[in-house]
Amino acid sequence: MAAELIIVERTASTNTAARQLFDTLDDGSCFCALEQYSGRGRLGRKWVTPPGTALCFSAVFKDVTQAFHAGAIIALAALDMLKTSLPGLQVFFKWPNDLYVGKNKLAGILSEGVISGGKLAGVVSGIGINLNQNRDDLSKLDNPATSLFVESGCRFETVPMCQKLFDRIQMLNEVYHRAPEQIIAKWQKANALIGHTLEVIRPDGARLTGIFSGIAPDGAMLLSVNGATVRFDCGDVKIDPASLPHA
Ligand code: BTN
Repeated sequence: MAAELIIVERTASTNTAARQLFDTLDDGSCFCALEQYSGRGRLGRKWVTPPGTALCFSAVFKDVTQAFHAGAIIALAALDMLKTSLPGLQVFFKWPNDLYVGKNKLAGILSEGVISGGKLAGVVSGIGINLNQNRDDLSKLDNPATSLFVESGCRFETVPMCQKLFDRIQMLNEVYHRAPEQIIAKWQKANALIGHTLEVIRPDGARLTGIFSGIAPDGAMLLSVNGATVRFDCGDVKIDPASLPHA
C-alpha cells in the first residue's frame, strides 16, 4: 500500500473523516474536502470556512513517537507550500499550532491522537488554511485573521494546493522516518517567536509576560519570566496575537 490523497466535494470535518478511515489508510495518506461544513478547531472551538474559500486538509501519521511531531510535519510542509505559492509572503509559525502573517492568523492545525488497544496508534493532523476569504468573511471570526487573497489580491485553487501540500508531507514524513531529529530541529528553527517578549493568556484569562526562551523536547513552550523558566503545554496557554513582534 502507498500513501494516497483523497479529495471529496464535501464533508463535515476532514479530521473526522480521516479518523474514520484510519485503519484502511497507509501512513502519510491525506484527506481533503472542497467544502467542510462542521470543521473543528482546538479546545472545542468551531472552524468556520465558507465553501471554496479554504484548504481543509488532514494527514494520517502512523509512525510518530510523540503527537506534536505530526503537527510539526504538517506545519513545515504548509510553510514551504505557502512560501513557494506566494513568494514574499511573510508567513511564520506561531507556537503551538498556527501560521500567522503579521498579527493575523492564516492557518490553524488540530492534531488528534488515535488510540487503539490502549496505546497511540497514530495521529490525524488537520490544517485549515485561509485561501480566498475576503475581509468581510474574516471579520466574522473571533480572532484577527487573514487569507492568501487578502495578502495578495489573487484567488487560489484548492486542488493544486492540496497536491502540493500532499507532496511536501510525503517528503518530510520520509525524512522523519530516517532522522526524526532533523524534523524537530527544523520545526524548532521555524518557531520564529523564540527570543521575543510575548504575553501569554491562561484558559482562566490570567496573563503573563516573558521571553519565549525555547521549546522543551516534548514540544512545551519555555517562557522566561523574571529570570525563572516557566513551562507551558499547548492546552495551558495561548500567545496573545496583540503581543506579536511583527508589524
Ligand atoms: C485551530 O486553529 O483551532 C485549529 C483549526 C484546524 C482546522 C482544520 S480544517 C481541516 C481539519 N478538519 C477539522 O475539522 N479541523 C481541521
